[in-house]
This record gives sequence, structure tokens and C-alpha cells, in this order.
Amino acid sequence: MTRVFEESLSLFKDKISDCIKTNKSISITTHIDCDGLTSGSIIAKALIREGARCTLRTSKEFNKNIVESFKTDSRDFHIITDLGGGFGKELNQTLDDNWIILDHHQISEEEKDNQNVINAWKYGIDGGSEICAGGMAYFAAKALNEKNSDLSAIAVVSALGDRQDQGEKKSLTGKNFEISNTAKGLGLLEIDLDLLLVGRETRPLPEALAFTSQPFIEGLTWNKETCLSVLNSSGIKLKEEGRWRVPAELNEEEKRLVIDAITKFSSDKNTTKIMSELIGYTYTFPREDKMSFLRDGREYSTMLNSCGRINRSGVGMAICMGDRNKVLTEGENILTNYRKIIKEYMNILSNEKWRISENENCIMVNGEDIVPETMTGTISSLIADSPKNTGKVIILRTRGEKNTIKFSSRKSFGCKSEINLSELMRTGAEKLDGIGGGHNAAAGAKITKDKLDEFLKYLEINVVNVSSTSNSQ
Ligand code: C5P
Repeated sequence: MTRVFEESLSLFKDKISDCIKTNKSISITTHIDCDGLTSGSIIAKALIREGARCTLRTSKEFNKNIVESFKTDSRDFHIITDLGGGFGKELNQTLDDNWIILDHHQISEEEKDNQNVINAWKYGIDGGSEICAGGMAYFAAKALNEKNSDLSAIAVVSALGDRQDQGEKKSLTGKNFEISNTAKGLGLLEIDLDLLLVGRETRPLPEALAFTSQPFIEGLTWNKETCLSVLNSSGIKLKEEGRWRVPAELNEEEKRLVIDAITKFSSDKNTTKIMSELIGYTYTFPREDKMSFLRDGREYSTMLNSCGRINRSGVGMAICMGDRNKVLTEGENILTNYRKIIKEYMNILSNEKWRISENENCIMVNGEDIVPETMTGTISSLIADSPKNTGKVIILRTRGEKNTIKFSSRKSFGCKSEINLSELMRTGAEKLDGIGGGHNAAAGAKITKDKLDEFLKYLEINVVNVSSTSNSQ
């Protein structure tokens, strides 16, 4: 850890200790996605353990209105996790020194100079792949008390949810690797190389294959009947004493047969990509119940993403903070429901061809009146996961609140474009009085509806008609 990072964490500790000593109340504002729910929960849990007075709330974005609302907020100190990039100056004006941001989104050089901004990029850590807000929150929690090392397990969920498993064979790298090793050392996490089927520990094999959308296997993803017939033809025993077997029960030979069956089914140019995505590191929480959806780190993260996206953040945060009572069933239902909805949206988008315009660089998808604003990130990621979209930039748009249009962009696997999507979205949106930002390979923007044509024109010049090796803007 660099000295500057340590200094920032020590500043965090001092500020929180001061709040506790002087009985000040603290508010935590966090994002609604998996990284937001985990980072907010990690901080809330750490504060509660220290005896601080605190409240936790979520927001789907950060904007001037939220800063404005802090003016009349009864809480004395504000922690913002996974949000707030670009608002340092305004927060200073509104709250003086009584705030801290813990984040990993790209920020400007000016913003990095603000001591209250604790952002990965400021310390030379790649916030797109080596750490996310959950990891930043974990280090802050550990600075408060070494005992918070156990929160490393939740920080692993955040990294998986933010798809930072970008190392070889879907491994975690950088600070995320360090955090996962801590969790492993504490006996909270097991890391293995395995088949990456969704519901590894919980779902009947055909269902697990059908639910797997990373990679999106044309014909198999969401098609249980075909999955069943493909697996039947592989010769694997699918049931044992009348009970469906789950992926975690397969031996090495059986795993090989599954791979062979999928390869035969999708015998086209995408096979290599499918295989490279299907085998990788799994992150298992051995202390969760055997048949629980919380045992597999990726499934845990999907559940959290689904909670936020359908306005049930509280369920996700309660689970992150350790509640294993009634909310567990709620979490499971939310996850099932969420998968159903996603399937419906994807079906409509692929059936209504007029919504999609595509060239060799980019796919533009119009999700208006179908995809809700909170689900754009999920859907654009899924489109990017489809092997047939390999190498392209995906840009999805839909209607947002108050006459706005929300954009969500992704670089798909193998995309060679040098365009930094965060800069693309921020620059374009700000020119039109909107907001935008994110990461090199995943970014979003929001503009008012009257600026839509201008924004589309901007995208056409800077992405659609830019060959994959030339620079943007
Ligand atoms: O909205 P979407 O999921 O496409 O956003 C991709 C990433 O960009 C997310 O990490 C999100 O938090 C970030 N983002 C941002 N500022 C925005 C919009 C999105 O930092 N105005």
C-alpha cells in the first residue's frame, strides 16, 4: 500500500473517530448496484461495530440535487460510496470538511487533489480492474479496526459483481487478489478452477447451463429444453436417486463431457471464446449453507445487483450485513424474478430488429419503453457478453425519469477500440448539460430528451464511424 493511500485511510479513521467521540451522526449514501450495496454495507457494519450512529441509504446516481439535500440533512457527517466522482468542489462548498468519498470511478486530476476523495486512481490503483468501491470500503473499514478483516469476503463479492475478475481464467488481480487471499486465509473463501455454470451449488445441471449467460451461448442460454437434450446426449448421469445433480457434483471426466457437448452444439467461430469463458476461478463461501445461493460468489453478486435494480436494496444490504433470516427467501425470490425479467427484455430486443443498428465497430440498441433505467447496465453487459458481439462497443439507451435519456455503454470481449468509454460518455454528456462517466470499458450517461439527436450524432462521429484502432475525439 502506498504512503499516500495510508495517509488517506488514516484521515478516514481520524474523521470517524472524531464523529464517534463527539456523538455526531453519520450518513452513508451508496449506489444501488452490487458494488454500491457491498461498499455501503461494509462501511455501515464497520461503523456499527465501532459504536457510531449511522444511517445507510441508496441512490441510483449522484447529482446536484443530492448535494443540495445534504444542506438540510440532519446528519453531521456524510460518507459516499461508489458514487460522487466530480462533485468534490460542490461537497466542500456544502459540507465544508464533513464528508468522505470512497470510490473507484475515474476522476479528474483536480478531483484527486481533494483530500476527502479516497479514490483508487489517486493511488495508482486501476479502479476498473484491480479494486472497486467494495475494496476501497474494506480498506477503510480495516483502517478503523483490524478486526474488520472478515469483511474481505463481502469485498470479494463486490469485485465479482463489478466484473473485475479480468485476470487469467477469470481470476481477481491486484488489490482484489490481496483481499481474496485475506478472506481465504481466514477460512471464509475457497478459490478453485472449475466450470463457471450459474448455480454451481444449487441448480440441476440443465437449468444451470440454461441460466449461464456469461458467455451468452446462442441456443442454450435460457433454453432449458435444449440444454437438457444436449446434456442427455453427452452421456452424463443427470439424476442420482431421483434427485437432479448440480454442477459442483461433477467429476473431472464429466466436466470434460459437458464441454465436449457444448462445443459440438455451438460448432462455430465462437467456440474458443465460449470455452475460455466457461472455465475459470470460482469463489465459494464455505460457511454459507450447502444449497444456498450465497455460497457461490458470482451468484451472490447477481442477487445483490438484482435487489438494487428492482428497488429492493434493503434486502441486499441486510444480507451483506449478516442477516440470514427471512430476507434470505426474499433475496432468492428477487433473484428468480430478476432473471425472468431480463430474459423477457432480451427476447423483445432481439425480436424487434428495428431497435438495433450495427456496423463492424459498434451496436446501438434502442431500449426505449422496454428496458427500465435501472436495468440498462445489466442489459448492455448481457449484450456485450454474447459471443456474436465479440470485439464491438455496445451502446444501449432508454427513457429515464423527468424527460431524460439514459445511455449505457460496454466494450465487449476482444474489443480493440482505444476509445475510453468513460471519457466518451462524460465529454459528450457534459457538452449537452448532461452527466456521464464510469470506466474505460463500461460507462453511462444521462441527457435530457431534447438533446438526443445531438448526442446520437456525437456518438456516430466518435464511436460508430471510428475504426477500432484509431483514437476518439
Ligand atoms: O449505468 P451503467 O451501468 O452503464 O454505468 C457503467 C459504469 O459507469 C458504472 O460503474 C456506473 O457507476 C458508472 N457511471 C458513472 N457516472 C455516470 C454514469 C455511470 O460513473 N454518470
